[in-house]
Order: sequence, then C-alpha cells, then structure tokens
Amino acid sequence: RCSVSSTRIGHEQIRLASGGANRGITISSLKEADQLAFILGFGGYVPDRIMTNDDWAELVDTDDEWITARTGIKERRFAADDQSTLDLAAHAAEKAMEDAGLTAAEIDEIIVATDTPEAYTPDTASFLQHRLGCREVPAYDLGGSGCAGFVQALDVARARMLLQPKRILIVGVELISRLMSWKDRSFCVLFGDAAGAVVLGPEDGRAELLDVVAGTDGSKTEILTLKTGGTRYPFNAESLASGAYQHLDMDGRRVFREAVHRMSTAVEDLLENTQRTIDEVALVIPHQANKRIIDAVGHKLAIPEERVYINVQDYGNTGSATVPFALWEAKETGRIRPGDLVAVTAFGAGFHWAAAAIQF
Ligand code: ACO
Repeated sequence: RCSVSSTRIGHEQIRLASGGANRGITISSLKEADQLAFILGFGGYVPDRIMTNDDWAELVDTDDEWITARTGIKERRFAADDQSTLDLAAHAAEKAMEDAGLTAAEIDEIIVATDTPEAYTPDTASFLQHRLGCREVPAYDLGGSGCAGFVQALDVARARMLLQPKRILIVGVELISRLMSWKDRSFCVLFGDAAGAVVLGPEDGRAELLDVVAGTDGSKTEILTLKTGGTRYPFNAESLASGAYQHLDMDGRRVFREAVHRMSTAVEDLLENTQRTIDEVALVIPHQANKRIIDAVGHKLAIPEERVYINVQDYGNTGSATVPFALWEAKETGRIRPGDLVAVTAFGAGFHWAAAAIQF
C-alpha cells in the first residue's frame, strides 16, 4: 500500500509515493521525476609523486609479486608534504566547475565525501567553500562511510535536488598516505591519494543521473573499522604509543565477500529500477580496492572484462575518490562516449554500498 502526494519542483509537478514494504518514500516513475539531475562537469586530480611496489619493498617486508598477485596494484600516488586534503579537493573541484562551464559563484551546495578530512572539525567542505570562493551556500561532509561516500553523496544530492533544483558540487577525496601507518605492510601498500569531483545540475547536461541505490548493514561494522579517535576509544597516550590510532581492523576475506556481493547486487537493483539489462551497460565502474574484487564483480554481473573499468594498478585504493576519479579519467580517455550507459558501484566500511546509473 502506498499513499501518493505531489509537490512542485521548479515548473514540474512531481508525485511522491510513500509506504510500501521497506520502501519508505519513493518518487513515482513519472517522466518529470526521471529528469531531475544531470552531471554537468567532471574533474579529477592525483598528486605527482609516484610510489611503486618496489619503493614499498624498501620500507616494509613486502614485494611486487605479493602486492600484484593479491591486489593488482603496481603503483599509487602520494601527496607532496605541503599538500593537504583541501588542496587535492580544490584541484578536482576546479576542473569539474570548468568542465561544467560554471564559476564558483554559480555553485549552490557542496558535499565532500572523505574519511581523511582537512581537520577534525570543521569539515573539509567548509574549507573548500572558502578556497573556491563560493557564495555562503550549504556545505557539508559525508565522512566515515569509507569508500562508498561519493556514491552515497550522489544519492543525497539527487534527493536535495528534488526539493529545489540547484547546482551541487560533489567531491570524493582522500589523502590516506598522511594518516595511515607506514609500517603496517597489510595496509600501507593498498592505498593512494586522489580526488574526483562532479557538478550536478537540473539543466540538460552531459550525463543524466538516472537512479541511485544505497544501503547499509550495520551488523558488520567490525569487519572494517578504525576505532581509535572516537568517543568509545579516545586518543590517549597508550593508543598513540602503540600506533592503535592508525590501525584499521579488517577481516580482509569477509570484506572481500561482502564487497563482491553488495557491489554486484546494487548494480542488479539499478538495472531493475531503470528497466535496463546488463547488455545495455557500456561500462561498469566499481570501487577500485582490489583487482580481484573488481574481476569477481564483473564475473557475477556476467559482463565482459573490457566493459569493466580498472585503474587500481595505477593509483591503488583511493577511498571515496576512486569512483569520481575513474569517471573523469574514463571520460577524458574516451572510454565513455556519448550515448553510453554507465553504472558506478562502491562499498565501504559500515558496511555500506551504493550504486548509480548514469546515461551519457
Ligand atoms: N606483503 C607481503 N606479505 C603480506 C603483506 C604484504 N604487503 N600483507 C600481508 N602479508 C602476509 C600476511 O602477514 C599473511 O602472512 P601469514 O600467512 O604468514 O600470516 C599473508 O600475507 C596472508 O595475509 P592475508 O591478509 O590472509 O592475505 P589475503 O590473501 O587475504 O590478502 C587482502 C589481503 C589483499 C587485503 C585481501 O584480504 C583483500 O583484498 N581483501 C579485501 C579488502 C580490501 O581490499 N580492503 C581494502 C580497504 S577497504 C575499502 O576499500 C572500503
């Protein structure tokens, strides 16, 4: 059972259908509701400094063979000492605004997805609003959701645009190399620094955001968590001395299984919602944590290898930046062409997942 109400968005009449088992409020499949959010511009940035597997082998007990076989990663980029999260975010954001043909004054809202913020407080979005020279628009971070943050932000932004058509800058950024332990070989070799950005707007742009799905299974917080620094386990002399404040608890195998299951199921849900088939998808862009996870997602979706985007070998896992950076790179290098249907899908600590269908 569901009840239907209606609201005006710009000049469009939109019907809101609420209720139905486990469905909350959903937008009815009216044509008007399908045309609310377009991606107007894309941006991406990685720092210049390259860190290869051999470079890591000089610092910790590891080698290129182990890293390549387990993860597919060959190298990653690390920020320069004088760069911070804000610098990376600003580079990607400026490119996305330029690509959209918009000035900072034309941005109506800013969302930054990051787990490695500029400061503990305030959020990175506040710093970014000032750095870019935006008006006094709402700006906030989506933090803590690990690598799913950017796609979750697409979901939030799309919902915000239902209330009021606006241009929303969304940035996924991580500067993990600054905060991780450089001594723990289980983790340090996996990550890299990067930023990616998009600008969403209501006017017919380069790519239409057709649908976003997202979910969380909070019973699995334990499989991927950095506990120290929160109120349950505050920073103290002991955690600083032991290095616990940098220690990510990860059950790698369970994360692997969940990642494959959730990222592929999320794409299947998208296809069902948008009434498309996997054969119509030109490119799947999964979160770039690990090549074996990406291959398994492609296998589960029964999509040929050449239609699954992989750049983890060049950048490692850049957290919430992987998806927007890959979108930008795929577009820049001609892997995405006009007319393509693209599915992005991500997972992160939580356990969160989110996926989006984008019609170019
Ligand atoms: N170099 C050499 N040996 C290593 C390294 C390294 N860098 N790291 C760990 N090892 C050793 C371990 O100590 C262990 O040795 P032991 O058998 O003597 O105890 C051995 O390699 C196997 O370790 P496992 O952790 O069991 O290795 P596994 O095959 O599970 O691979 C990996 C680890 C790559 C992390 C895998 O579990 C995985 O891909 N998990 C998915 C999770 C993921 O990608 N997380 C990334 C961050 S989360 C996110 O993106 C949201």
